[in-house]
Amino acid sequence: MKDYGKITATPVTTFVGAVISDVDLSTTLDDQTIAEIHDVLMERHVVFFRDQAITPQQHADFARRFGPLRKARRAAFEVLDDVSEMQVLINDRERPPNVNHYHSDGIFRTNPEFGSILLGVEVPIAGGDTIFTSLAAAYDGLSDGMKEYLAGLSAVNDFMKLHGSPAKTRSWKGDNFARMDAMRQDNPPVEHPLVKVHPVTGRKHLYLSESFTTHVIGVDLEESQRVLDFLFRHVAKPEYQCRFAWQRHSMAFWDNRAALHYAVADYWPAVRRMNRVTIVTDEIGTPAVTTLSKPA
Ligand code: SIN
Repeated sequence: MKDYGKITATPVTTFVGAVISDVDLSTTLDDQTIAEIHDVLMERHVVFFRDQAITPQQHADFARRFGPLRKARRAAFEVLDDVSEMQVLINDRERPPNVNHYHSDGIFRTNPEFGSILLGVEVPIAGGDTIFTSLAAAYDGLSDGMKEYLAGLSAVNDFMKLHGSPAKTRSWKGDNFARMDAMRQDNPPVEHPLVKVHPVTGRKHLYLSESFTTHVIGVDLEESQRVLDFLFRHVAKPEYQCRFAWQRHSMAFWDNRAALHYAVADYWPAVRRMNRVTIVTDEIGTPAVTTLSKPA
């Protein structure tokens, strides 16, 4: 357990995750507390809170302290009528959970969102955990040869890899076809480097997602497939992970630049209903100093 001053944070595993206590998210937190939560998030990639019986508006207000929120679009998810940034992720008997991959929210966008904040509204008695994996620890765990190989390589990330897959057929039914098609048109495939430097911590991390990353640019298709398969397996190693068991009113706040997540789809036909907002840019993080060179 580490005492930050206003909050205490208890690490979940060696590389990722911390449970923050002493915080009531139904109140307006002072700037120092917000800064401390951000510090823990940078260090641990994902932070968890328990017993936060907050309204969707309070959830959005808390998230807005870290940066502007993305206005949600009704397409892949439902959206709350009275809080336009709040997505509702709901799975039940008729809508079985259907994403079994690690992903980073928004990696298919030119400007992916920095953070996501998810609140458990109705959760199964057992199952439906979320696994988080540290992309920084996974990068550190690569051999020097692999680090050298990946330096300078980029990959294509495509909304349609997941959302055009058979698992997502139900999203394209009826009226929702037009909404999904608009999402597709607004999100053509984009390139991102496979290795990035985190703008706040200065740590190198991998940046890819089995849900959306389709191929490595500039290498032949077979090589691309083998490299991606290796990396998808590598980031899924338990050593880089933590696993969060939800309770009603638990909250997870993760940094999409530094962590992947995987919602474990083991609870059908139970209901799992989560509210989520995403934060476009990190307005608190100060860019890390990555070069110390000064003019002579
Ligand atoms: C998400 O993919 O952003 C949601 C993860 C979850 O439902 O656990």
